[in-house]
Amino acid sequence: MSDGEDPTANADGDETVVRRDRFAGGPARSFLSSLADDERIFAADLAVDRAHVVMLAEQGIVEAETVGEILAALDEVEAAGHAALSDGEDVHEAIESAVISRVGPEGGKMHTARSRNDEVAACIRYRLREDALALLSTLVGAREQLLAVAREERETVMPGYTHLQPAQPTTVAHWALSYEQALQRDTGRLLDAYERINQNPLGAAAFAGTPFDVDRERTAELLGFDSVAENSMDASATRDFLVETTSAVATLATTLSSLAEDVVVMASKGHVELDDDYSSTSSIMPQKKNPDTLELVRGRTGDATAGLNGLLTNLKGQPRAYNRDLQRAGRHAWDAIDSATESVEVAAGAVATADWPEGTLSAAASEGFATATGVADLLAMAGVPFRTAHEVVAEAAADLDADEDAPDYEALSAVADDVLGDSLSQFVERDAVERALDPTESVAMRDSRGGPAPAAVAEQVSGAKEVLTAHRETVEARSDAVEHATDRRETEVSRYV
Ligand code: ARG
Repeated sequence: MSDGEDPTANADGDETVVRRDRFAGGPARSFLSSLADDERIFAADLAVDRAHVVMLAEQGIVEAETVGEILAALDEVEAAGHAALSDGEDVHEAIESAVISRVGPEGGKMHTARSRNDEVAACIRYRLREDALALLSTLVGAREQLLAVAREERETVMPGYTHLQPAQPTTVAHWALSYEQALQRDTGRLLDAYERINQNPLGAAAFAGTPFDVDRERTAELLGFDSVAENSMDASATRDFLVETTSAVATLATTLSSLAEDVVVMASKGHVELDDDYSSTSSIMPQKKNPDTLELVRGRTGDATAGLNGLLTNLKGQPRAYNRDLQRAGRHAWDAIDSATESVEVAAGAVATADWPEGTLSAAASEGFATATGVADLLAMAGVPFRTAHEVVAEAAADLDADEDAPDYEALSAVADDVLGDSLSQFVERDAVERALDPTESVAMRDSRGGPAPAAVAEQVSGAKEVLTAHRETVEARSDAVEHATDRRETEVSRYV
């Protein structure tokens, strides 16, 4: 491409020529290239090119006829696909070359008043927005599944643990809601990040703006960006929107890892029966049914935290304004978000299709004197200072034989005589003590706001449903806005082609 006949050679100042002739052929050629990685932003780049040239025509910067030819060439490039792009340093250069080879030197006007720096920043934001919306709608669906489990398993008593030791009885619904609640915040964090993803860096050019009379609000409108990333140096340099999103994704993955771990432990105790679709077996041990899907969810946490780590390390200490390091930033975010999106779907699917064996779970909820706190609470409600009540029950627990789960009324009475110097019946009726020792009653007692009692759970479900509906509407509105921008862009493009 170095001879005088090359159509690009006449385009004064055209980077393509400079890059090809002097800088494109050495041993580092493939090291420099991001073309393969850039498949991820191929569609985004075409959208960004179209919005940019439409704006150039509207502003009278490039003649409408030339813009029409560029837009027609972009259609062909799109139809041919990313794989058809010739070798190049990146997708931006390769698409520009493909346009020039179709249009001739006039095609080089596409790159007027911009740089690959603002271009790639726009592409990343455009694509990340799509991925964030996909993750958000998966999250909303997953939360819906958890709420369905909560509605169905409101009365299914199960053991609750602290330090992996039997602690207090709760219900499957209360457990499922605890994760719905966490995913609610994960959704909120992503929606917050979305606001800062969805800003337009175009018009920043390399970093220092441009003498052309560009309309940054117009390209924002044509690309569905909600606002303009104001300062041109910041606009081309920053990737903090990637950090914010990947951080939200890593937090989400951490939430999922706990859910996965819970289910793995429950499965090992027979407290949950996973659907075959979410299980795997052993190639040698015929009896095995393993919770591999949840183990993979747990393991994939590393994809997200590695992504965040990789990204922050990539960005640390980069001077203003643009450095090539940035070419390696996006991949961390893509890995994290892809991995987590699949994990959300699988984790929620495994929980939603699982069977919760009531008998086993309620028997397990009686193990290890898990109702002890309820008995102490009962005494405290009768006026015994909680610390003293704690002592009575702790002593009864210490007196238990190895094969006993909980003390009976008589055993508690004996300790009460000792510690309180009074008979237990002075404080609580036998009947009430026996109820407190029953895991189902123990759960029903704890009807404080946010607690596991079925009535409290019903309240939580309806509160969670409201938030879910609001989140779903927000995600739909954001997706609609993106679609409208696509329609608007297509309408504008069709005026020229
Ligand atoms: N491919 C680059 C990236 O992904 C954009 C190119 C900017 N290159 C440059 N030398 N200014 O960041």
